[in-house]
Amino acid sequence: MKKYLSILFVGIIFISFSVKSDAQQNSPAATQNDSLFPKNIPALLMSSNGTIIKTKKEWEKIRRPELAQLLENEIYGFVPSGDVKMTSAVLEQDDNALGGKAIRKQVKITFTNANNKTLSVALLMYLPKGLKKFPTFLGYNFNGNETIYPDPMIHASPMMNGNNKQSGRDSLNWPVATIINAGCGVATMYYWELAPDKEDFSTGIYPLFYQPNQLAPLPNEWGGLAAWAWGLSKAMDYLQTDKQVDAKRVIVLGHSRLGKAAIWAGAKDQRFAGVISSGSGAMGVSISKSKKGETLSAVIKRFPRWTAGNFKKYLNQDANLPFDQHMVVAMVAPRPIYISSASEDQWADPSHEYLSAYLSTEVYALFGYPKWTYQAPKIQEPIQGRVSQHIRDGKHDILPYDWNLFLTFAKRELK
Ligand code: GCU
Repeated sequence: MKKYLSILFVGIIFISFSVKSDAQQNSPAATQNDSLFPKNIPALLMSSNGTIIKTKKEWEKIRRPELAQLLENEIYGFVPSGDVKMTSAVLEQDDNALGGKAIRKQVKITFTNANNKTLSVALLMYLPKGLKKFPTFLGYNFNGNETIYPDPMIHASPMMNGNNKQSGRDSLNWPVATIINAGCGVATMYYWELAPDKEDFSTGIYPLFYQPNQLAPLPNEWGGLAAWAWGLSKAMDYLQTDKQVDAKRVIVLGHSRLGKAAIWAGAKDQRFAGVISSGSGAMGVSISKSKKGETLSAVIKRFPRWTAGNFKKYLNQDANLPFDQHMVVAMVAPRPIYISSASEDQWADPSHEYLSAYLSTEVYALFGYPKWTYQAPKIQEPIQGRVSQHIRDGKHDILPYDWNLFLTFAKRELK
C-alpha cells in the first residue's frame, strides 16, 4: 500500500511539474493536456520572425504593435484616412439627477468632413456627484439612449432598427442607480447612430470618409466592429475635454456584438484604463480555433459587414488561422480586463472565452501579474484579478450579477 501511495505521489508531482513547465513555455499552447484545449493557437510571446518576447519592453516595442497591425490587416480593417473633424456641444445638463446624486449630461458629438457632410451622435452620461476620481463605464447601447434608464429627460435616439424603444426597457442591463451609488459613472451612445448594423454602407460614419464615387469601404478598411470601436475612441476624445469626467479611469465595455467592438477599442486605444467584455463570443474574446457554437466562418457568412473585406478570405479556414482572439485580449495588457460569459451561452462558447483570458495572462505576467494555471472554468466562481473572469449561471445577457462584479473590479483595479 505504502509503495502504491508513493508511486501515486511521484506521479502527481510529475504531472504538476509538466503542466507547469508547459504553461511557462512560450510555444503555442498545443501541449496543454486538456481535451478542451485547441491545437496550434498562435503563440503570444513569439514575434513573426521567431524572436521570443521575454520582457514588457519587448512586448510593447515589438509584439504589441505587430499584433495591432496583423489584426487590423486581417480582421477588423484600418480606419480610412480622411479629413473628418469632430466638435461637441452639451445639449442638456442636470446637476441634480437621480434625486441629487448624479449629474446627467447629454452631449451632441458631430463629425464633419471636407465637403461639410456631417454625422451626429448623442452621448448620454450619468456621473457621480462630488467625486473627482471615479471609474466611468463607456459603452454602446442596443436600442437607444432612452432605453437604458426610465428617465423622461433622456432625449430619444432616432428610430433606426425598428426595435421597441420604450423608455427604460433595457434598465436591467444598465443599472444606472447602482452604478452611481457605487461611486462610478456611465456613458453611452446608440450604436446604430455611429454606424447602422446592416449590409449597407451608405449611411452612418462610412460616407464621411469616401472618395468621390466610393460606395463602400475598401477591402483593407474598417467593417462595423472597427467603426464602432473608432466611435468609442472619439467619445473618449470628448471625455478627455470634459472636466467633470475622470478621463484617466474610463473603462470601455460592451455586450455581445458591442462587446466585440469594445474589446477591439480597448485593445487599440490605450487611453482606456480598462476593458469589459460581456458575452462577446465569436470575433470577440472567444478563441476561434475549434470553437463551439458560432464559428468564425459563420460570422463571415451572416455578418460580413462587421469585418474588413479582406477577412472574407478566412471563410472555412477556421482551423488554419495565423491569428486568434487571445491576441486582442493580450493587447489590453497591462490594463485590467474583465471577461464575463454565461453558462447557457454556448453560441459564444464560455470555455473559449476563458481560454483567451487564460492565455493572455502570460503577457500580464511580463508586467508582474500572476500567470494563471489552466483549469476547467467553473460556473459562478469569479476569478478576480488584473485579468478577471466569470461564467454566470444563465443566458446570454449582461445582468446585475455581472455589474456587481464589474463595479468591484473597477474600484479595485482603478483605485
Ligand atoms: C448574434 C451573433 C453574435 C452576436 C449576437 C449579439 O447572436 O451571432 O455573434 O454576439 O448576435 O450581438 O447579440
